[in-house]
Amino acid sequence: MSSIPSRTLAAGDTLPIVGFGTWDLSEADVHDVLPTALDNGYTHVDTAEGYQNEEAIGEVIAEYERDDLFLTSKVLPSHLHYESLLDALARSLERLGTEYLDLYLIHWPNPAISIRNTLRALERAHEQGLIRNVGVSNFSRYQLQFARRIANVPIVANQIEFHPWYVRQDLLDYCQEHDIVVEAAAPLARTTVLEDPVIREIADSHDVMPAQVALRWAVEKDVVVLPKSTNPDHIRANLDLFDWSLDTEDMERIDQLDRQENVYMIDLDDEVYGVPA
Ligand SMILES: NC(=O)c1ccc[n+]([C@@H]2O[C@H](COP(=O)([O-])OP(=O)(O)OC[C@H]3O[C@@H](n4cnc5c(N)ncnc54)[C@H](OP(=O)(O)O)[C@@H]3O)[C@@H](O)[C@H]2O)c1
Repeated sequence: MSSIPSRTLAAGDTLPIVGFGTWDLSEADVHDVLPTALDNGYTHVDTAEGYQNEEAIGEVIAEYERDDLFLTSKVLPSHLHYESLLDALARSLERLGTEYLDLYLIHWPNPAISIRNTLRALERAHEQGLIRNVGVSNFSRYQLQFARRIANVPIVANQIEFHPWYVRQDLLDYCQEHDIVVEAAAPLARTTVLEDPVIREIADSHDVMPAQVALRWAVEKDVVVLPKSTNPDHIRANLDLFDWSLDTEDMERIDQLDRQENVYMIDLDDEVYGVPA
């Protein structure tokens, strides 16, 4: 079993604080790298129907004990009507070769479809045991407040872009005040933040990689991180976050780096329908 620290979700399950991101991994990539991740201690895997790699993930995880894994998938914003969500979920489960997901997220809000309708479908799937936990992704504070008001199951997580160059403190505070785990999508800002001179200097001082500094900084804030990598050394390093730590001064210096620079997300408050990454 894994020694990665976990967060306890509002519904009681435990979520390993580091997960393996799989956006943009082809089916061949998944076969190449997911076994490396799982054999090196990752137990939490993040995918989505939109990533088009669920079938390969299913083939790989078939070789592992399902109950040892925490598996997340996401429903596309175009599948948020009641019937289409349940159909999309059934297809994800079939591709993944599993009877349940540990967490199912609305990948992206869709203002054209009633969130009530979507939540009723998620509640039905939850009652049927097809999904153990319900969450959202790319939701603003306002969208979360509204969804929570009408949800009959806890919304346990909000997966949002989060890294040292892009922090939305009020959204983080809102989630943490309401027991909603923040999961950092693109926690390495797709490598851009690894060039930051402060991150590099702190990494040198601890004899670790810049990526480890960015990940440890997020973990210190109780944020779950989902780094994606195809490089076995990176895959191992991204999990090696717990035998060393950042001190208060390091944390304060990294906190100063926020430049509201996002790598994948539109401004949620614009209520513009975006293309999920
Ligand atoms: N909910 C959403 O809308 C949403 C949006 C974006 C992402 N996500 C989730 O978050 C996951 C992570 O985001 P992401 O894939 O966009 O980007 P990311 O994890 O921020 O960055 C991935 C990049 O970082 C590099 N990298 C990883 N570890 C490294 C290390 N130790 N040192 C140097 N470079 C390293 C990888 O290259 P190598 O292969 O060479 O290591 C890859 O190019 C996704 O895979 C997905 O699961 C969700």
